[in-house]
This record gives sequence, structure tokens and C-alpha cells, in this order.
Amino acid sequence: MERKEFIKTCSYSCLGLVGAAFFLEGCSGPKYLNAQFEDEYLLVPLSSFEYENKEENKFRKYIVAYNNRLKYPVSIFRFSETEYRALLMKCTHKGTELQVYGDRLQCPAHGSEFTQNGEVQNGPAEAPLRTFPVQVEGTVLKIDMG
Ligand code: FES
Repeated sequence: MERKEFIKTCSYSCLGLVGAAFFLEGCSGPKYLNAQFEDEYLLVPLSSFEYENKEENKFRKYIVAYNNRLKYPVSIFRFSETEYRALLMKCTHKGTELQVYGDRLQCPAHGSEFTQNGEVQNGPAEAPLRTFPVQVEGTVLKIDMG
């Protein structure tokens, strides 16, 4: 195979992989939400967790909520219809914004990892993540940021 043909083949393969990743992400991956505040409560519609797969309603494991009032985003994990956990995505080691992967939060700075409950799984961080009380009210999650 000539060099030019090899590069062309590799490029198409990479594009295919990127496209597949976007497709899979679009089906069930994380949802990023610009959530609104009502007093001290961050409001997240329960429908934010829903997605359709083969005409079936399914639920995302988590979403990530942003708002200009927040210095860091908040990830909200769904455990059941009534059980959720809201975590500040701020690393307790030196304050870097965390990234969510599946059921873990990882720090890009020095590699700390946290569980979906906010507990430290791998250091150097030692303290758990800040959590916020969550209550279901009708079709909305109210996260007490106070
Ligand atoms: S700031 Fe997150 S591990 Fe250091």
C-alpha cells in the first residue's frame, strides 16, 4: 500500500470511529443541561434523564447541570425513579473541574477518581466530593444548593 493511500485509509477509519462515538453518545450518553435556579434550588426536569432507544423509554445514568451562578457544574446521578445524588464537580485535591466517565468522576490534573456517591476511589484527593440534598417534586428535581 502506498503512503498516500495508507494515510487516506487511516483518515477514513478515524472519521468512522469519531462518528460512531458521537452516535453512541447521542443515544444514551451524558446530557448537559443549562439548569435554572429558583431561590436556592437548582431545578432539573426529570425528563432530562430520558432518552428513546428502539421506541423504548430509557434513562441516562447521569446528567451534568450548568448555571452561571455556579463556579463548577453539578453532576446528578440517577439510581432509581426516586433516588438521585447531586455532586459538585470540583476536585477536593486542588480544585480542578472533574470529568464524568460512566459511573466515575475523574480529575484531569492529578488523576483522582470519585465514585457516583462522591467517595474517593483513587487519590491524591482524600476528601469526598461536596453533595447536595435532592428532592423529587412532581416532574422536577430540586437540588438544594444553599
Ligand atoms: S486537583 Fe484533582 S487530583 Fe489534583
